[in-house]
Amino acid sequence: MRTTVGNSTKKSARILGIETSCDETGLAIFDNERGLLAETLYSQASLHREYGGVVPELASRDHIRKVLPLLRQTLTDAGLRPQDLDGVAYTAGPGLAGALLVGAALGRGLAWALDIPAVGVHHMEGHLLSPMLANPDLRMPFAALLVSGGHTQLLKAEAIGRYHLLGDCLDDAAGEAFDKTAKLLGLGYPGGADLARLAEHGQAGRFVFPKPMTSRPGMDFSFSGLKTHVLHKVEEYRSQGRLDEQTRADIALAFQVAIVDTLVIKCSRAIEATGVSDLVIAGGVSANAMLRTALDDWGSSHGVHIHRPELRWCTDNGAMIAYAGCQRILAGASEGLTIRIRPRWPITELPALSG
Ligand code: KG4
Ligand code: ZN
Repeated sequence: MRTTVGNSTKKSARILGIETSCDETGLAIFDNERGLLAETLYSQASLHREYGGVVPELASRDHIRKVLPLLRQTLTDAGLRPQDLDGVAYTAGPGLAGALLVGAALGRGLAWALDIPAVGVHHMEGHLLSPMLANPDLRMPFAALLVSGGHTQLLKAEAIGRYHLLGDCLDDAAGEAFDKTAKLLGLGYPGGADLARLAEHGQAGRFVFPKPMTSRPGMDFSFSGLKTHVLHKVEEYRSQGRLDEQTRADIALAFQVAIVDTLVIKCSRAIEATGVSDLVIAGGVSANAMLRTALDDWGSSHGVHIHRPELRWCTDNGAMIAYAGCQRILAGASEGLTIRIRPRWPITELPALSG
């Protein structure tokens, strides 16, 4: 069987994906004919928890410890030998330099030893394409909301590698705002999922927080003011000895509602601006149940199809890197022997698929 990517017809490919951009070591093997063959994931969250955030040097060292055992495990689970691989994709950026280097050095070295192509994948392109792991029929153009710990972006995806930025975050990303607010409420790192769990017990309407940058036109985001708003509310109640469990849950809910409403409003503007009827939402915060429901409700009442990754592929993983790399390798991409990372790498500067 042959598969069409872009304008070219290429044969099958089994691609190893390596994700080490932050605090997850993720490996996976994606086969363009058979789908995902295996994936392994190790989260460093417990390592960083006592520091309240990711410590870059500890992250790099832990990737070094974990990446080879996970590679062996992934190959075993897929029933493959290294020489059965057709290419290697590793996250080249954006991310923590030392952490990226671990995956890049392994990926580039392995590809050299096996004499197969290697490509450096953009982490956010991995997130962007992640819904295609479960739904390969999804076609561009579509609008996309990328919401992770480091990014909140709206874009129009015209083709793989051709992304037009509609809106960006001016300060804290949505995931970062979740994490910082969770910390204010006494929750551990990363706090997004825990804050969402706390919010389930909140009383709607007791607190109403502002929806940042929704009263003026545009699709940019700013969440640091909202976080400060929460800080003042927490301090007010703490100083009065009234920061009880219910109040914490009510604040968590009000914060989550403000974020979700803001994201939905900006998504509706993106759909209006682009005229497309498909919206992808991806990245760690796309795991948020309230956001998923709100976007689904909005989509079904406005004739917009919402596409999201499966829950396990919302947060960082190797499968999305293997998938994105597979598309590029099938289109003929291969990099030289230089190990190249880009800790800062705008998604608008990606090479488009030439194929
Ligand atoms: O995409 P991701 O795994 O890593 C980055 O590329 O940054 O996103 C991680 C972010 C964290 O800020 C985490 O708190 C947030 O995603 N997150 C959530 C949920 N699950 C993860 N935020 C809100 N609700 C969730 N259920
Ligand atoms: Zn990510």
